[in-house]
Amino acid sequence: MATTTKNKKKKPTQACRADKHKLYEYSVQNVKGEIDFIDHTFRSLRKRNAKTLREDFCGTANTSCEWVRRRNGNHAICVDHDQAVLDWGRNNNLSRLTRAQKKRILLLNEDVMQIRNDPVDLVLAMNFSYWVFKDRSTMIKYFRNAYKGLKKDGVFFLDAFGGFEAFREMEERRDYGKFIYVWDQVSYNPIDGHGLFKIHYKFKDGSKLKDAFIYDWRVWTLPELIEMLAEAGFKSTIYWEGTGKDKEGNGVFTPATQGEADAGWVVYIVAEK
Ligand SMILES: C[S@@+](CC[C@H](N)C(=O)[O-])C[C@H]1O[C@@H](n2cnc3c(N)ncnc32)[C@H](O)[C@@H]1O
Repeated sequence: MATTTKNKKKKPTQACRADKHKLYEYSVQNVKGEIDFIDHTFRSLRKRNAKTLREDFCGTANTSCEWVRRRNGNHAICVDHDQAVLDWGRNNNLSRLTRAQKKRILLLNEDVMQIRNDPVDLVLAMNFSYWVFKDRSTMIKYFRNAYKGLKKDGVFFLDAFGGFEAFREMEERRDYGKFIYVWDQVSYNPIDGHGLFKIHYKFKDGSKLKDAFIYDWRVWTLPELIEMLAEAGFKSTIYWEGTGKDKEGNGVFTPATQGEADAGWVVYIVAEK
């Protein structure tokens, strides 16, 4: 009997087959570049190699996996309060480490506000995750907990974004060939500084992974962050990105006291204990 349209099985769309964590790691993260920067900056500040790292808001622990791969003797504690994302990291990232590397990484389902650890060289709060803390007193409490978790000469690494487009309701798209990444600045309230951000993915077959990730954040400015870090005991330096011939960011971040009033920028904040 000929197959009718009715009983023909529908092929799952690309969006149905996609894994949002894989898409995120590919389109948002650059863990090799990030660990290069952190490792090099710590060494130039402290004249020794960092060994121990605590990755707050670790998600899939991709960055910490890169850390333990980087040098024998590097250890990582990864903190996230979402067991599902930690499980994904264990099954997809830790599973690719050697047995020896796996012994040097620990996943913890904990709140970054409550976590207590033996002091480490580095604490990381990357991809703006700490912007979930929306008022000064909560943010300072978090920064104090990062301070407590560090050795005497430890360094806290964070990132931040800004520029006049950070306050606009707009979308930015990047084409990765097999999919399009969409950064959606859904809303911004100038009165309380709260911003709603989403990541969507679009595919060649027209299917979409809408609201793959949703972030309800306070859009903090650099002077606010530097002041709160100082209240928690840190001395902060902003590392501003250089520009290439094409006038786009070149991925090289150096200490700066003067930035540019660009439409959009991303910086590292290096906060020394
Ligand atoms: C943007 S994602 C992870 C980003 C990742 N650090 C990176 O560099 O791409 C934010 C993560 O923070 C976690 N998170 C949010 N609030 C938290 C908290 N108070 N304690 C621990 N984890 C938290 C979420 O579960 C989520 O996995």
